[in-house]
Amino acid sequence: MSGVKDSSRVRPSREPERADPPPGFAVYVHWPFCLSKCPYCDFNSHVRHGGVDEARFVRAYVAEIATTAGRIPGRTVSTIFFGGGTPSLMQPASVATILDVIAQYWTVAPDAEITIEANPTSVEAERFRGFRSAGVNRVSLGVQAFDDAALAALGRTHSVEEALAAVAVARSAFERYSFDLIYARPSQTPAQWRAELGRAIAETAGHLSLYQLTVEPDTPFEALHRAGKLAIPDEAAARELYDVTQETCDRAGLPAYEVSNHARRGDECRHNLIYWRYGEYAGIGPGAHGRLDVAGKRYATAAEKRPEAWLSIVESRGDGLVDNEALQRAAQADEFLLMGLRLTEGIDPRRYAEIAGRPLDLSRIADLMGYGLVEMTPDGRLRVTRSGVPVLDAVVADLAA
Ligand SMILES: C[S@@+](CC[C@H](N)C(=O)[O-])C[C@H]1O[C@@H](n2cnc3c(N)ncnc32)[C@H](O)[C@@H]1O
Ligand code: SF4
Repeated sequence: MSGVKDSSRVRPSREPERADPPPGFAVYVHWPFCLSKCPYCDFNSHVRHGGVDEARFVRAYVAEIATTAGRIPGRTVSTIFFGGGTPSLMQPASVATILDVIAQYWTVAPDAEITIEANPTSVEAERFRGFRSAGVNRVSLGVQAFDDAALAALGRTHSVEEALAAVAVARSAFERYSFDLIYARPSQTPAQWRAELGRAIAETAGHLSLYQLTVEPDTPFEALHRAGKLAIPDEAAARELYDVTQETCDRAGLPAYEVSNHARRGDECRHNLIYWRYGEYAGIGPGAHGRLDVAGKRYATAAEKRPEAWLSIVESRGDGLVDNEALQRAAQADEFLLMGLRLTEGIDPRRYAEIAGRPLDLSRIADLMGYGLVEMTPDGRLRVTRSGVPVLDAVVADLAA
């Protein structure tokens, strides 16, 4: 990219007063099963009509936690997140066992954030109090749309009414809850989206995840899209919907703190912040990823994705890892940028320099500033502007090159 070349413009007006505090340590637990597979979804989620041997899986989770803690002992756990798949299909007793074992091997901070993802069906809402008793203190619900026809088109098995009932149960069982919506759906207009967002804001406790529909490879939606039977908004229409999202949420006091996540101040998802701030996290369960700091090196770990194959590997060896790579400094620095620039708070360039062993390229920053895609904050942080967010991948690629 060419453009403004005056690199003096990118010097912070004053040095940051302090480096960012350590992001903390997180544990992610992946439950890979769902009652049905949504046609847009490419998460590691599977349907097992014959049922799942939950007790056997839980024993494997326990073993994998023990093995991981043996590698990184002595950590204080800031956050735990049960994701999926649909972890709300687990029995509360299974969640309790997993939480107890995490607390047995590591120290769980007294104020730890412990989240479970849930589908908003009545069956799952019935378990919310059980999850609460097990120690969960936050729930993230996949509401997806406030429109029954849109829910059906997304292949969801719940109605708006059912989702609202699940939100009400979440509200009574948990102090903190969030829900997900998918926008930029086929033929969705800005006026419709504004109305849906209004309903979401009325129902929220302070956190919303708002995802633009993406057509993922090897999903039924991709086949439909290729066959010309699924028309998603073009770039300009998607941009308009994105702008409606930002304006409506800003006005409601729920600004974006990350590309797709909005919260009232102080109600951000602390677990995901650990990823985006490039903290340390352990991944437990089929297909889970981790970043572990061992003897001065950062390891990128990934577990076998297929649930039953993962189960056999854990049963024979104590963990299900198929990848365990020590990352070079350059790779870590790229990851730090990729994650950190998703955040509205941006990154501390000094931390980049520490990780990479070299500073960011000021002339590239100046170029991107010339295009209005990034900016330096008064306290010396680098962040992507609102115009830069839709082209975030290109911005990161440019800075990382
Ligand atoms: C693992 S899923 C959520 C958990 C739960 N199984 C559910 O569906 O309610 C995480 C979220 O990713 C979002 N998501 C999944 N696939 C998507 C896609 N292709 N485009 C946009 N958002 C997507 C959905 O909002 C979903 O709630
Ligand atoms: S969106 Fe949620 S319920 Fe649907 S297949 Fe993906 S993980 Fe399962």
